[in-house]
Amino acid sequence: MRHHHFHTKSKRNYNALTNANKQKQRRRLRNDMAIASSSSSCCYQSSLFPKHPLLSRNYPNPPSRLRFSPTVRATSAVALQPESSTKKSQSLEGSEVFACPVCYQPLIRKGPAGLNLRAIYRSGFKCEKCEKTYSSKDNYLDLTVIAGLKDYVEVKPARTELFRSPLVSFLYERGWRQNFNRSGFPGPDKEFKMAQEYFKSSEGGLLVDVSCGSGLFSRKFAKARTYSGVVALDFSENMLRQCYDFIKQDDSILTSNLALVRADVSRLPFSSGSVDAVHAGAALHCWPSPSNAVAEISRTLRSGGVFVGTTFLRYTSSTPLIQRALRERILQGYSYLTEEEIKDLCTSCGLTNYSSKVQQSFIMFTAQKP
Ligand SMILES: C[S@@+](CC[C@H](N)C(=O)[O-])C[C@H]1O[C@@H](n2cnc3c(N)ncnc32)[C@H](O)[C@@H]1O
Repeated sequence: MRHHHFHTKSKRNYNALTNANKQKQRRRLRNDMAIASSSSSCCYQSSLFPKHPLLSRNYPNPPSRLRFSPTVRATSAVALQPESSTKKSQSLEGSEVFACPVCYQPLIRKGPAGLNLRAIYRSGFKCEKCEKTYSSKDNYLDLTVIAGLKDYVEVKPARTELFRSPLVSFLYERGWRQNFNRSGFPGPDKEFKMAQEYFKSSEGGLLVDVSCGSGLFSRKFAKARTYSGVVALDFSENMLRQCYDFIKQDDSILTSNLALVRADVSRLPFSSGSVDAVHAGAALHCWPSPSNAVAEISRTLRSGGVFVGTTFLRYTSSTPLIQRALRERILQGYSYLTEEEIKDLCTSCGLTNYSSKVQQSFIMFTAQKP
């Protein structure tokens, strides 16, 4: 049985451990602050000290190459830039990364720390507020609101349900995705490079590949080791299974800081302001509500965090009028947007610095959390 029950005894031990860890963390934090204040001499202000929203918890250290030292960051934040543009999500190895999809309270983890498949598979998660538990099914962690429900069944719109099919999930990287090139998509390698350019300021932080499908880009992000953690997230169970099948063929990805999570883009299981970068490849047109999704992405991004998405445009400025009218009719009920609509949406969700690249029906757009 791999289910994790929070029995009273283990809960008592767990609480004791958590309290001890909290004290240790507070002591370490006090030391760090003392060093930071002395190294930044007169101009240290507590409001400039980089505060992770969940800093009070105990988190083991990320790999040294990607580790952010609070001491060094505190000093440089004071000396160089305002807090918002330097603060990166620095706690990637514990329960803090994931939050309850119901109340957004950080989940408590019982099991090994780490944002990798093995650690997450062997862990149980619990929201102390909602008293709900979450664990890995197959090889992904199910963080949907409907996780574990027995009687309630929810059917999403066809454009979401289509990708839950085992056949579509299997075919996706075996011909389906390649077809996108005919509409102007440059292809995964080029799209990855373009996205990486936009994500420059998020390097070393936590990247969430929303609607990752079979993990075409999540695998590239993880393999590049540009981020301290990558979360491959999708609503489709079969896409995530397919993603795992691809991952296990490459040891360097299998052992990287990559997590597989089932979640709805309209209910992302992360605390507000805890994510450094969100990628959503060829996804916006599949979402049941693009406005809820973009609002949710904006909520989870930290200040300075970057959102990069690609999708099919309904039409572009060069599409002949007659063709536009036809497309308006045919594509009714789908979320194929125009470029103006995408920009409008990002702006209305509080994102700034919008820019985009268009090629036929393909658009790659980016926007930033101020
Ligand atoms: C066309 S695939 C894109 C896959 C990959 N990102 C790419 O660039 O090729 C769209 C993905 O959106 C996912 N999706 C649809 N509705 C979703 C939702 N409500 N929440 C999260 N993912 C969703 C589907 O399961 C599917 O895997």
